[in-house]
Amino acid sequence: MVDLRSDTVTRPTAAMKAAMFEAPLGDDVLGDDPTVARLEERSAELAGKEAALFVPSGTMGNLLAIRCQTRLADEVLLHPDSHPFNYEAGGAAAFAGVQLRTIGGDRGMVDCDAMRDAVRGPDPHFAPARLVCAEDTTNRGGGAVWPLERLDELGETAHSLGLRSHLDGARVFNAVVASGVPLARRLRAFDSATFCFSKALGAPVGSVLVSDAATIALARRMRKLLGGGMRQSGLLAAAGLYALDHHVERLADDHRRAASLAEALTALGLEVVPPQTNMVYVRVDEAPTWQEALDAEGVLCFATSSSTLRLVLHLDVDDAGVAQTARAFEIVAAQRGLTRPGA
Ligand SMILES: Cc1ncc(COP(=O)(O)O)c(C=O)c1O
Repeated sequence: MVDLRSDTVTRPTAAMKAAMFEAPLGDDVLGDDPTVARLEERSAELAGKEAALFVPSGTMGNLLAIRCQTRLADEVLLHPDSHPFNYEAGGAAAFAGVQLRTIGGDRGMVDCDAMRDAVRGPDPHFAPARLVCAEDTTNRGGGAVWPLERLDELGETAHSLGLRSHLDGARVFNAVVASGVPLARRLRAFDSATFCFSKALGAPVGSVLVSDAATIALARRMRKLLGGGMRQSGLLAAAGLYALDHHVERLADDHRRAASLAEALTALGLEVVPPQTNMVYVRVDEAPTWQEALDAEGVLCFATSSSTLRLVLHLDVDDAGVAQTARAFEIVAAQRGLTRPGA
């Protein structure tokens, strides 16, 4: 099987597991796990922020960012394709008590003019907009990388409107590698950001929230409140440290494989969104039936809508996996009378 459902499906390598087993541990809720402390310090430094908090998931990181930078019945502006709006189980409503208001933009990127239009005056009818969230790379936006000037413009415009800004950087290292722009520079205009070790970086569990010291101190208490305080979590943080040392530069391999898969599928006559990072989106009729047919040919992927398939390249897919995927598409396309196998 070639599993292209997500980059979350990777298994820790033997070397990563060895790093986990060898890590010095303590009780992180009591503040004395040295490996978690090292990962938090390193993450804050890489991100150019004052402090960081290790959390079990990207979902919890985003929720804490929202909870700690808003008040009850505030409004949070984000893209209709964003992760908190689509896939975080309504947590922002349940645990932060905020209203999510969607604002548009191309390829999953929030547009500054749409943000200006959405921010309303002090009339008591309105929920006050307090925070804008962006996503880099954009997941449902095709794995797109924000141009640096747009990131800066978003953060600066948010501040000029009196809003704070959060970047969901679940895959921000893909953006760092694809753009060649260091993490701290990409995050410069943002008040907070999350990034995930458990996606393209290949760790089994874990994300961080980075921000100023006061926001992280509040997030630490809120993490406990949500049941996210973890004890000997250095075992997991060690995987994150290993990933930062060994799995960042190799993301370029995933990007190269995504480009070569896109090329092969385009050659079959399929409509493919040109990939910028590790995600390949293919437009087909009746996407769920393609998902099933590809599954039967040994390729797992997700239909993200009735007309879209998403394939995600990662650490556990090599060049042979790309070739096998292209072959499976060729067979399924031929079954549907779109091309002939071997054509
Ligand atoms: C863009 C984005 N943000 C946040 C998350 C949430 O991460 P987690 O699955 O660790 O909660 C995901 C998960 O895939 C994601 O794609």
